[in-house]
Amino acid sequence: MYKIAVIPGDGTGPEVVQEGLKVLRAAGTKFNFEYECTEYDFGGARYLRTGDILPDEALNELRHFDAIYLGAIGHPDCPPGVLEKGILLRVRFELDLYINLRPVKLYPGVECPLKNKEPEHIDFVVVRENTEDLYVGAGGVYQKGTPNEVAVQESINTRRGVERCIRYAFDLARSRNKDKKVTLCAKTNVLTYAHDLWQRVFYEVAKEYSDITADYAHVDATCMWMVKNPEWFDVIVTTNMFGDIITDLGAIIQGGMGVAAGGNINPSGVSMFEPIGGSAPKYTGQNVINPIAAIGAVQMMLAQLGEQTAATAVERAIMTTILKMKSMDAGKMGYGTDAVGSLIAEAV
Ligand code: IPM
Ligand code: MN
Repeated sequence: MYKIAVIPGDGTGPEVVQEGLKVLRAAGTKFNFEYECTEYDFGGARYLRTGDILPDEALNELRHFDAIYLGAIGHPDCPPGVLEKGILLRVRFELDLYINLRPVKLYPGVECPLKNKEPEHIDFVVVRENTEDLYVGAGGVYQKGTPNEVAVQESINTRRGVERCIRYAFDLARSRNKDKKVTLCAKTNVLTYAHDLWQRVFYEVAKEYSDITADYAHVDATCMWMVKNPEWFDVIVTTNMFGDIITDLGAIIQGGMGVAAGGNINPSGVSMFEPIGGSAPKYTGQNVINPIAAIGAVQMMLAQLGEQTAATAVERAIMTTILKMKSMDAGKMGYGTDAVGSLIAEAV
């Protein structure tokens, strides 16, 4: 019996989570696994109502689940950063979800903004470090609001944090049926302390994986290659900040935020799965948002739980349903959010 914590969150989060859970139910019936969901109402609405962001007791409860399924965090009436830092980043840090796994895969039938690129060209995974770098919040501000203001925001990179992330990327490349290649995406020509650490650890670890090719690309060049030659990539490993940026580019080349899913992984603990797009407040309650990203997050959750057959079935069901849809964009799918969820559940 899997124990799953569900945080539907803000905006369209609850709508897409509902469809993800519909598909999870279908998979459970088909593949004979049982699970129990516990819902938590964290997000903008609760914060505005009670001032609660993520109470410590709740955070401690989250540690005892087998997985966490998250819709979206972000509310237009909340100051920027409060919910993101207080909920999403806090869970990532406190539960040590040190890998942010973001597959970039173009499915047949999905419109790709890149000229002459087909599904066989776009199939790679970004392994984004998820607990360090600029996201730590180290630094400070001095004489704020004056002409002498000084703002420092530091990138923290630890030998241990870098190494465990790089190892995960090499293991992943080994398990994938592609080029057996890991590309380090960094900026060694400018960040000569932090990214020198990354580069040294990368090539050191690479020696233990003689079956895997170790490659390097600067982050700016990575952006260029992702557009020009995405087929060059198998697994990309990168820092938290660069990973945040390049995975939005990745999402758009795989068909947009409606399709892109991600996992915040602690390989030896509880992991959290989410569609990587935001709460899309303007589409809230209209039954127009694409639930495929949230359903892809369920697929990733099943794989992490060890239900690989069910995960594969969910991916196949997503692929057959996509062929029936007009577009991956909100409001243009040819179906409502709930109908897409039902089609995928039936296909499972
Ligand atoms: C993401 C998001 C978050 C991040 C924000 C909401 C803090 O953009 O998951 O990519 O920067 O990591
Ligand atoms: Mn992001």
